[in-house]
This record gives sequence, C-alpha cells and structure tokens, in this order.
Amino acid sequence: MSQRKILMSSALPYANGSLHLGHMVEYLYSDIWSRFQKLRGHQCTFVCAADAHGTPIMIRAREEGISPEALVERISAEQLADLEAFGVAFDNFHSTHSEENRLLIERQYHALREAGHIYTKTIEQAYDEAESMFLPDRFVRGTCPTCKSEDQYGDACEVCGTTYTPNDLIDPVSVLSGSKPVWKDSEHYFFRLSAFEEQLRAWMADAELHQNITSKLEEWFEAGLQDWDISRDAPYFGFLIPGTEDKYFYVWLDAPMGYVASFMNLCQRRDDLEFDEYWDPGHDTEVYHFIGKDIVYFHTLFWPAVLQGAGFRLPNSVFAHGFLTVNGKKMSKSRGTFISARTYLDNLNPNFLRYYYAAKLGPGMDDIDLNLDDFIARVNSDLVGKLVNIASRCAGFISKQFHGALAAELDDPPLFDEFAAASATVAAHYEAREYSKAMRAVMALADKANRYIEDKKPWVLAKDPGNSDQVQNVCTQGLNLFRTLMIYLEPVVPLLAAGARELFDEGKWSWSDAGHPLLGATINKYEPLITRVDAKQVQHMVKQSREPVESVNEAHEITIDEFMKVDLRVAKITAAEPVEGADKLLRITLDLGDGQRTVFAGIKAAYDSDTLIGRHVVAVANLKPRKMRFGTSEGMILAAGPGEQNIFLLSVDDGAEPGMRVK
Ligand code: 2FM
Ligand code: ZN
Repeated sequence: MSQRKILMSSALPYANGSLHLGHMVEYLYSDIWSRFQKLRGHQCTFVCAADAHGTPIMIRAREEGISPEALVERISAEQLADLEAFGVAFDNFHSTHSEENRLLIERQYHALREAGHIYTKTIEQAYDEAESMFLPDRFVRGTCPTCKSEDQYGDACEVCGTTYTPNDLIDPVSVLSGSKPVWKDSEHYFFRLSAFEEQLRAWMADAELHQNITSKLEEWFEAGLQDWDISRDAPYFGFLIPGTEDKYFYVWLDAPMGYVASFMNLCQRRDDLEFDEYWDPGHDTEVYHFIGKDIVYFHTLFWPAVLQGAGFRLPNSVFAHGFLTVNGKKMSKSRGTFISARTYLDNLNPNFLRYYYAAKLGPGMDDIDLNLDDFIARVNSDLVGKLVNIASRCAGFISKQFHGALAAELDDPPLFDEFAAASATVAAHYEAREYSKAMRAVMALADKANRYIEDKKPWVLAKDPGNSDQVQNVCTQGLNLFRTLMIYLEPVVPLLAAGARELFDEGKWSWSDAGHPLLGATINKYEPLITRVDAKQVQHMVKQSREPVESVNEAHEITIDEFMKVDLRVAKITAAEPVEGADKLLRITLDLGDGQRTVFAGIKAAYDSDTLIGRHVVAVANLKPRKMRFGTSEGMILAAGPGEQNIFLLSVDDGAEPGMRVK
C-alpha cells in the first residue's frame, strides 16, 4: 500500500458561541476519518480554524465592549478545549483573521480580477441611520410579504418559507437600533459564478460527490447560477478589499480560504509538508472538506469556482453530513436537549458519544438522531457489555496465574485469522465513511469473541491446575481478539484504545498490527477501561441543559376587561392539510359550534396533519380575519412553545363541545 498524502478539513466554527452536540457531528465525523487515515499509515493532515469574520462577531464584541480579535481569541480557545476533550485531534487550528489568510485572499482576489471574474455593481441595501451602517439581511426584521406573519428575518419567512430581500418586508425594522431602515445605494463586488458552470460540472463528475450532493447541484444548475456578492460595506470585521477604504471581503469568501491558511501556517513548522504540493494544480496529493449539509452551496459552487478562477487546485471531494436531532426532535432549550459540548463532557465519557455517532453515521446527508435512552442502552451493551467484557474476562487470569505473561501460542488460530481477515472490509467501510457499517462489523466480531470465551469457560478450566496451559492459551486468544477489535475501533474511541494499549503495554498501533497477535509478551494489570452509563448521568446532563422558563413580564400586564375581549372557544379540528408552497403552514378547518372556519397555523413541523383531525383545541374566535397568500385565516388556535417542532397545542379534555367558551 503506497502512502497517500491527504489534506482534510472540518468546517470552521464561528467564533461567537459555544459548541453543542450538533456541531460535534461535524468534528467527530471528520476526526474519525483523519484518525483512520493516520492509523493506516498515510500522511494525513487535518486542519481547522476559527471562523472569525462577519457582522455577528463584530456586534457581539461591541456589546461586550471588547475588540473582535479578543472575542475570537477567547471563544475559539474555549471551542478548541472542548474539541480536544472530545478527542478531536487537529494538526492545526488557526484563524481566518490571520496574516496567512489575508495574503491568500489578496492573492486570490488579484488573480480573479486580472482574469476578469470580478465586477462591481451598485445595489440598494438596507441602512440603519441610527447606527450608521448597512444591515445584513438577517439584521432586518418585519412582516412577511407573502403570508403576513410578523417579525420575520429579512431573507426568508420562517412561517411560509418564502425567500426574499429585506426590501420586500412590510414594516421593516433594524434589529440593531429598532429604527426603520432606509435604502441606500452602495457599490458591491461580484464574482462571476455564472461563467463557471461548465467547469463546475466537470469538477462535480471528477469529485465523485455523494448522490445527495449531485442532485442538489443539478437543481442549482437548472435554476441558473447567480453571480455572487463578495463584498460588504464598513463597518465590518474582515479584510479590506485592496484598493478600497470601506469595502470588505464577505466572510464567506475568506472562510474556506481559512482551510488553506491553516495549512500554510502549519507548513511553516513542518518540514515534511510542502504548501505548493497541495495547492498548485497537478500534484498527486488529495484534498477533502468535511461539512454540514447546510453549507453545501458554499463548498461545491462558490469554493471550487473561486479556486479554479484564481489558479489553485480544486478539492478532490466534499463530504457532507446531516443534522442532529435529539430524541427525534430538533434540539430544544426548553426540553434540555440543546446540550453544549461542555455540559456533555461534564457528565459523560466523550468516547461514548463518538461511538454512538459512529454507529449512526454514513456517507449521506441524512439527519442522525441521538435518542438518549438508546444511547444508554447502546453504550452499555456494545462498549461495556460486548467489547470491554472480552478483556475483563481474560485479563485477570493472565495477571494472577501467569504474572502477566501471554502464552506463546493461541488456542484457536483460525478464529484469530477470521478477525484479522475482517481488516479489508472494516477499512473499506471507514474509507467510504460507512461508519455505521464498520461498527456493525466490529460488534458482530465482538459477539463471536464472547461466544468463544463462553464456550471455553476459562473460569471453569482454571479450577484444575492440570489445565494451566490451556487457560493461558484461551485467555491469550481472548485478549488478542479484543486487541484486534480495539485497533479497528481506535479511530472512533481513541481514549478507550489508549487504555487498551496501556494494558498490552504497547506505545502506538498501526492498522496492520490488527493482523498479528501479541504472543509471549507481558501485559499490565487490567484496570477497568470504562464503566456503564447510569441513566442518572444523562438525566443530570439534560437538567443542566434546560433553560429556565421565561419569567412573566409585569410590564405586559393587562386588565381583566382587556382579557375578556378575547373570545376563546373550544374548537374541533375537522380537517387539516399541508399548504402547497408554504413550508410550515397547515390549513385547518375548525368546527366552532356555529359553523366551520379556516385557519392557517405554522405547526407543520410539530404535527402530522392526519393526527390532528378530531382533536379538541382552544381557538380565538373573534380574531379579525387576515388575508394571506394562501387564503384568509379566520381565527387562531392556541399553542405553547418556541416554534418549529417545539409547539404544543392546547387540548381540551373529553366532554367539551365545539363552541363552548373557555374561561
Ligand atoms: O456555517 C458555519 O458555521 C461556518 N462558520 C462554516 C465555515 S466553513 C468554511 F467554509 F470556512
Ligand atoms: Zn411568510
């Protein structure tokens, strides 16, 4: 097997918040692959960096009264500490706000300009006069022009899913000052993405992207590629565009260059890495980006196009994963399932999450679910019950009866050979990011190892001193089966593997060690490698993650007379169906006793329309009808919760009739 030279990256975390278990999908997905490649003996370099630029970071630093640089430094140090505690082993963690990145982005910009791929155009943009700044789309809120839902972002409506510009919002306000934005002209810099379609199609074919990604790309090609606005006006935290005084590169232009910058920074310290060998076209090195499914557009259109346009090499492929749900639902602060990386670490062993994610991850973009009961069951049964059990059943005999000495031969060499022969399959699964298949293959072998020990019953054999040799051979066999499996699992559970290496008194493993039994060597005393997860630990973690319920605001008190104006009635849902063209809405028909009403409710993410029919809910019966794009809404049904999947309808007990007043 010849040594490959691989450079890989994971998505750069924004340096403005804590990492949570959703982020960890990304870092564990990539770290497992990096560790696997290294274990196989390839030269794999794994880079990451702080994603430092952009308006949200600038604003947060301003709110805290510190410089954006200081904010980025503090937050990214915390993030890196969390990642390291989870066993994520970057070769370098740098920053997009670095000299290397500035140099690279300027080099890229000049090359793109000279080749005619950049042009300027004056656009109209929302401007906050109180704050004297242009507003990014997300910093403008207002009423959706389509469904008339209030308080929506300036780029898309969370209720009906329409996308638009802040200019289309009804009654827009600036999130920063609360003032009404004005519209001002500004000259922006655009990258001619539209000119790259053919090259992107060629790259897409070469890159062997997952079907999930190619079908997305096909959709985007079909819709027509739009040129990309790569500039932002001052004030902005980022790099100034050369030749201007108040125009900055948009954060998404310099973010992926952060991968390259992090690598460049590492090359300064490492004699064995040659920058040009990885970033000039025509070399035999490999470059891969691991990302989440939400940023596929940036990595499979913008990024390869700007690299191509500026004469850099293109990545070999981009690997995207899905999002995390917890207990089948979007993570939620009120339910305590919005779990920060730190809170997890304070309660549980990081290797458990690594294993659980690996057992669920594959090469596609499907979301994965962290079901907390299943997590406890899976970790206890697989890692503790199956895997570590093999060692704990054998090691004691070797220590006590043979002073730690392993036998010079195995009891059942063909069985060991079978474990060794799994190497190719397990490796192929890792290589293809089919981690769940790799885990299944390893656990099937662990079952086999346990059956072997049960058959041989060393604890029975050991009662007769005449069986001494056989006890030593059987336990040596069991421990070697365990050792081979731990080598296969090292990319996933490195801390556990380190414990196993300690037991075998071995410094470092390589993948090929799995095929050679350790015989005649002296092992160390067995220390329990892990203990079972107790449901209480998980409950404690959830409790710590639960956000206290918002306290009632006295400033918003109303009088009883005001309350009495609201006519609340029991309503029976007689029909419910999704609304075509609206992502979040259901059209609901209510029986209010005096006839039918239609209401539109943004509860599609939380409820399956079929399950609603026949339910008795509480409705506001005297709400003035509101015209929406899809029809007129003639009331409102009451629900609690922050939104999306976390919406809970108010139900009424059996016996209530439609039309009854709710008091
Ligand atoms: O979506 C995000 O969280 C970005 N900070 C990821 C950037 S990845 C790369 F392009 F820099
Ligand atoms: Zn809308």
